[in-house]
Amino acid sequence: MTNKTTFPNDFLWGGAVAANQVEGAWNVGGKGLSVADVATYKPNVDNKDYAAHMGVTTESIREAISEYSDAMYPKRRGIDMYHRYKDDLDLFAEMGFKALRISIAWSRLYPTGEEKEPNQEAIDFYLDVFKEMKRLKIEPIVTLSHYEMPLALSVKYNGWVSRSVIDDFVRFSNTCFDNFGEYVKYWLTFNEVDSIFRHPFTTAGVVPDKSDQLEQDIYQALHHQFVASAIVTKDLHNKVSDAQIGAMLTKLMTYPLTSRPEDVELALKKNLDNHFYADVQVRGEYPALILNKMKRQGITIDMVEGDLEILKAHTVDFLSFSYYMSMCESADVNAERTPGNTVLGVKNPYLPATDWGWQIDPKGLKISLIELYDRYNVPLMIVENGMGAYDEIEDGQIHDQYRVDYFTAHFKAMKEAIDEGVNLIGYTSWAPIDLVSAGTSQMSKRYGFIYVDADDEGKGTYNRMRKDSFYWYKDIIATNGESLYQYGE
Ligand code: BG6
Repeated sequence: MTNKTTFPNDFLWGGAVAANQVEGAWNVGGKGLSVADVATYKPNVDNKDYAAHMGVTTESIREAISEYSDAMYPKRRGIDMYHRYKDDLDLFAEMGFKALRISIAWSRLYPTGEEKEPNQEAIDFYLDVFKEMKRLKIEPIVTLSHYEMPLALSVKYNGWVSRSVIDDFVRFSNTCFDNFGEYVKYWLTFNEVDSIFRHPFTTAGVVPDKSDQLEQDIYQALHHQFVASAIVTKDLHNKVSDAQIGAMLTKLMTYPLTSRPEDVELALKKNLDNHFYADVQVRGEYPALILNKMKRQGITIDMVEGDLEILKAHTVDFLSFSYYMSMCESADVNAERTPGNTVLGVKNPYLPATDWGWQIDPKGLKISLIELYDRYNVPLMIVENGMGAYDEIEDGQIHDQYRVDYFTAHFKAMKEAIDEGVNLIGYTSWAPIDLVSAGTSQMSKRYGFIYVDADDEGKGTYNRMRKDSFYWYKDIIATNGESLYQYGE
């Protein structure tokens, strides 16, 4: 039940992080190298070619494995949550979190991905995390694969291009269900499953220079992820009767720059491309228009008998997504462009932007919620939303009103969508605590309600400090949204 100013009673308020951006301890407790551990510091990203700007090549991987000290690999440090999770969970509990989205580092459980038995030390570590969360009454939402597959699977097989990786992922996922199923009721398979075309290495271990036919290989890798996702959905449903599993999409909202039909058509196509992934995972089939597009491009996916039946039979229970910004499309090749979350879009003259140029658009979140619910008719969960900003410490405090304003506007948009009938069951902000950026590996791109004393070079005490937004979010959760209407814009 909702009233005019509060969210549904059981609404899951919380935050989201990913193992590779927070844990650190990259070589501790038997962990193997993951694809994140070879990602270098890239502050000056050029969004024109995101795959290229990730800068991952066969050569850079070789260098990263052999010369640990020469380049900066900030994800190896994270924010040291591996050792500090108890204190961090206490801080999340202090904010009143009902839920926390984390991911499991696959290479902690299976260092090369191919071991037959999991690493017990890693299981014990995550078990302790979940027990602690249970004690604090924080519901875990767990992503099985968030940009951190074992590097060995990438080096040996070019990642998900190889069908054999399905078995490795299914084994890993079942280990998670068997060991953590008692504690975890909400699971997600692949973080931003659509991101595979934007950064194939990070998402699927596909090294671009190893492919003669990159696009074909990406479609193949994606198909394997779809099949793997459906298999583990079946396995979870068989093993843990009260658990649910969701797809996870980057919601990239695109508007036509003008009402010119050419602009509208381009925007429509961008949005259809974006929905393709959820179409497969929620509806259980490849959309006809995408199949036709692949045919026209000469792409043929190698499918095994039964694949399409598995996709159809084991669809997800809910749809989760990240939402940070929106962009426009235009037929005018000279239209001004601006970066967004691993994309470059046409600039919207009506929107402000973050320090990284991502356009701030709360109304776009409302539109996304309505659009996705109308299209799929399954419960929705926002599992990432937030703004990266430079924070300044003044007299020992951080007055991040800009962050409060961002969240206030987005929460009001969510409430409007709920009032219009959208079944939104939860919200986890990205990120409740400062962490290493996925795209740039910066620490200075700060998202948290909690400040972490570490700089881009990893220097600092790593002590945690509450920002103004910490108290604000605590109040929002405590009043289930009611105090939203007293703060900010
Ligand atoms: C999402 C990813 O796309 O964006 C997160 O799932 C990431 O892992 C977030 O951190 C924000 O992007 P960035 O590059 O600012 O860290």
